[in-house]
Amino acid sequence: MLGRLGIGFVGVAALVALPLVAATASEDGKPRKPTEQEWSFDGIFGKFDRAELQRGFNVFNRVCASCHSLEFLAYRHLIGIGLSAEEIKAIAAENDVVDGPDEFGDSFERPARPSDPYFQPFDNEQQARAANGGAFPPDLTLITKIRSGPDYVYALLTGYGEELPESLEPSPGTEYNPYFKSWTIAMPEPLFDDAVEYADGTAATAEQMSRDVSAFLAWAAEPELERRKQTGFVVVIFLIILAGLLYASKRKMWADLH
Ligand code: HEC
Repeated sequence: MLGRLGIGFVGVAALVALPLVAATASEDGKPRKPTEQEWSFDGIFGKFDRAELQRGFNVFNRVCASCHSLEFLAYRHLIGIGLSAEEIKAIAAENDVVDGPDEFGDSFERPARPSDPYFQPFDNEQQARAANGGAFPPDLTLITKIRSGPDYVYALLTGYGEELPESLEPSPGTEYNPYFKSWTIAMPEPLFDDAVEYADGTAATAEQMSRDVSAFLAWAAEPELERRKQTGFVVVIFLIILAGLLYASKRKMWADLH
């Protein structure tokens, strides 16, 4: 009993202390906490907004993909964001891949097919670093899982442009971004108004593109999110019904015994 009280006490103390720690995080050298955004896929009934995902892919494909890979994505997976087989075929064919051997034993280039892995900008880490002043543009497949969700990506992309605080030394080849772990980031601000053209007529402001690509990366990290939520919901309903039945049968059994 005492032990349980002790655990309870520690739990309550941790709950009280947590917001205090979070509030001071930005003052003690930790990156700034991203502001919480509303996403269509939040909550138990949340669903991806297919139009948003398609705009986000467009941004990734036109801008981010020149530096970042999405290792586990194949073109055919884009069916999940609502693109048609024809659209996917056309997107894949924009890039060439090396195939082979042909009848003479040589490798050859051909346009990518939907079954090919999504375009990778660099052959290896050394090449990626050489092209980015020594910094490594990480694979972004799981970035919304590793960091604090799409809120982080959105905050980072829109977090450029503030004055470097005096306490920080300017470091060559980097820009100030309070949301990045080291406060200065070697990624130049990637999005400017009209960097891409949206097929659905949405105005391609930097803010809108940041939002859309963040949502797309949330999908890339967990394309099965909707199915997981659906299964979770069915399981909870099942458990509630089961609990009700168990309770009713327990009452009936004990009623006979009294
Ligand atoms: C010119 C190359 C380049 C482009 C284009 C680019 N990035 Fe980056 N990105 C980098 C580099 C380099 C880093 C690593 C920065 C560092 O370590 O200081 C980085 C880091 C990041 C990070 C931080 C990862 C972490 O560990 O927290 C995110 C998120 C990110 N990029 C997203 C994007 C998105 C989304 C786009 C497209 C809108 C994009 N990047 C476009 C080069 C690029």
